[in-house]
Amino acid sequence: MLEPKSRHDLKLNRRRTQALYRQIAEQIKTRIASGELPGGTRLPPIRTLAAELGVTRLTVQNAYRELQAEGLIEATVGRGTFVGPETHPSLLHLHLGERLTPMGVLHDVHKVQQVRGVRNLALASPDPHLFPTEEFWASLEALHPQGSEVFQYGPVIGDPHLRLAISGLLAQRGLEAQAEEVLITVGGLQGLALTARVLCQPGDEVIIEQPTYLGFLNILHTLKLRPLPVPLDEQGPSLRHLEALLKKHRPRFYYTLPNFHNPTGMCFAPERRQALVDLAIRYGLTLVEDDTYAHLAYDMPPPPPLRALDRSHVLYLSSFSKVLMPGLRIGFVLAPSKLLEGLLALHSASDICGPPLLLQRATARFIQQGGLERHLRKVVPIYRERRDTLLDALRAQMPRSVRWTQPKGGFSCWLSLPAYFPPGGLYQAALQRGVAITPGEAFLTQTQDHTHMRLCFGYQGSEALREGVAQLAPLMREQAARLTHTTPIAEVL
Ligand SMILES: Cc1ncc(COP(=O)(O)O)c(C=O)c1O
Repeated sequence: MLEPKSRHDLKLNRRRTQALYRQIAEQIKTRIASGELPGGTRLPPIRTLAAELGVTRLTVQNAYRELQAEGLIEATVGRGTFVGPETHPSLLHLHLGERLTPMGVLHDVHKVQQVRGVRNLALASPDPHLFPTEEFWASLEALHPQGSEVFQYGPVIGDPHLRLAISGLLAQRGLEAQAEEVLITVGGLQGLALTARVLCQPGDEVIIEQPTYLGFLNILHTLKLRPLPVPLDEQGPSLRHLEALLKKHRPRFYYTLPNFHNPTGMCFAPERRQALVDLAIRYGLTLVEDDTYAHLAYDMPPPPPLRALDRSHVLYLSSFSKVLMPGLRIGFVLAPSKLLEGLLALHSASDICGPPLLLQRATARFIQQGGLERHLRKVVPIYRERRDTLLDALRAQMPRSVRWTQPKGGFSCWLSLPAYFPPGGLYQAALQRGVAITPGEAFLTQTQDHTHMRLCFGYQGSEALREGVAQLAPLMREQAARLTHTTPIAEVL
């Protein structure tokens, strides 16, 4: 049963525009996520809670109904209303935030996925409710007549049908690529890891953007490669910094995210893209272009890849994890033939072949039957609306000292704030309020910088985004009020 003390903890604010039933549901949800209300806890009868909070029974009933629809509570006639059985962990019991390294945070992000009731703004993933499952099943079923063939080992380089479908997709983006140049990988991450292993030896230097995708920082760390960070401005990477690095160092390559960058959501300006390629040509630098989010473009069509500007200096890779479904584990690399040989050799030494042939073939069919195009037509407007919801909520609620990027695509928004919190402090405080964020440290090489966080807007619906910001904003305001001196505002792009 909710203890009397915590019953009094449910606070209603009648001046807020948020409906009272939602305020009740939200607070109970936070307690379920945090573990304060474990599975099996009996909630107060509707009549009792309504009397205590001074609201109508209908208000409490609506709150319970909403929690029930989300599968968080269960009502049994004659017995009462209970928090659902304890089949999921709660935030407080997961020991999150013990390490703010890319690997530590990656582990956390996936653990948080199992928690009920959490507002998950930490996961740069598509919303599973929007997966094109039915149409994909139809693609799988259409392969039935192919019988045992699709359960064989596939070719190391990938299924020819899928490689052909990918070459067609790339042509639509202004990038001519023969199917023979395409290597299928187990997600984009394997493409990145293979590339780094083929191009580098331990101790080598690699240029990265600051901030950059935490999965790639994890690869650098694991392979004992040294990152050389280049700062970003609103147009893209700072060319002045980049050129200074190229004059002093011999980096093996530069890992870049020109389209809907993770974690900032930015898209590099056309002049900066050309200048970046020109610099690569001048210094003989290899650019490894990660185009994973390109199709999730909210304000304009995605620009052509950098590789369309220069084939000999740009190696291109991407994935279907964000635009389709991450569980397919299908990514791909486009590489010049010499490099492709090295990638293939490494790939076959560890894997025999890539993702299951059945899934590769079904993905090829799905693309060729127009499934991807239809799916994007459906989800891009939804993700655009979620992006707008997040930005509106931040604008309305965050104190002036907090700044954020204006993502043009993808799933990520990057926030910068004064040095309010000790290391991991914001992360923990947010978790206690039932909100998962990604701490900024995981995307940076300067791990002593604790003034950033990433908020993702793809995985959850607009309501959870609003609730998430409504929980985070007071944390910022409380900290801002506590500061006795003015702290410099962290940089934002
Ligand atoms: C920029 C970027 N590249 C690559 C990946 C890896 O994706 P996959 O799930 O296909 O391995 C991710 C996943 O978050 C990403 O954000």
